[in-house]
Amino acid sequence: MSRPTLLDLCCCAGGASMGYHRAGFDVTGVDIAPRPNYPFTFVQADAIEYVREHGHEYDAIHASWPCQFGAAITKGTNRHLRSRYVNLLPEGRAAMLATGRPYVIENPEARPDVVLCGTQFGLPVLRHRRIEVHGWTPMALPHPKHRGRVRGWRHGQYHDGPYLAVYGKGGGKATVPEMQAALGIDWTDVHEELTEAIPPAYTQYLGEQLAAQLQVVTS
Ligand SMILES: C[S@@+](CC[C@H](N)C(=O)[O-])C[C@H]1O[C@@H](n2cnc3c(N)ncnc32)[C@H](O)[C@@H]1O
Repeated sequence: MSRPTLLDLCCCAGGASMGYHRAGFDVTGVDIAPRPNYPFTFVQADAIEYVREHGHEYDAIHASWPCQFGAAITKGTNRHLRSRYVNLLPEGRAAMLATGRPYVIENPEARPDVVLCGTQFGLPVLRHRRIEVHGWTPMALPHPKHRGRVRGWRHGQYHDGPYLAVYGKGGGKATVPEMQAALGIDWTDVHEELTEAIPPAYTQYLGEQLAAQLQVVTS
């Protein structure tokens, strides 16, 4: 039986993609920036334009719409910067709905159908992520009580952990090798890509359920 296909929009270096791959999907990633570390089929394009044109060709779609909002820069030579300044969630969600495919959106403003945290997967990171779904139903996971603080300096005080800050630099925040180990990502050592990544464990959890539900629909 052939593997189901999944389109990962705004894929960056593929933290989310890797989880779906492990869950059994053939993954294609789309990002506006070149991502030479991305480990699967890659298309450099605007995600909204791509999903409008090609979204229906895939069995399921994931999008991590960027979450930096602000003044709109949508034209001219700075067009490639627009994602840093514009909330793509409403437009992106509408374009995904129009494909008729089941989807997953990960974004701080997404509807929190499921909220995932590293503690649910035994990872030493908190990295809470809101997950909005359409066309299928994931199980919620219990959220274990955090066992302590995030390692590093806060307001002049040093905290020992047990969790790692996988963003920013200095002040006790995780080094690149620590980030790689904590997130479960060994195919990129680019700080920015690790800072942005969803731990593959999150999307493997979602993807296994999504793949099982797709099988029921198509069999
Ligand atoms: C938060 S990161 C995604 C992280 C990814 N899900 C992971 O797990 O590794 C957001 C990505 O969106 C990309 N991006 C921003 N605007 C975009 C657009 N209009 N089209 C495609 N990609 C875009 C950025 O280059 C960045 O790589």
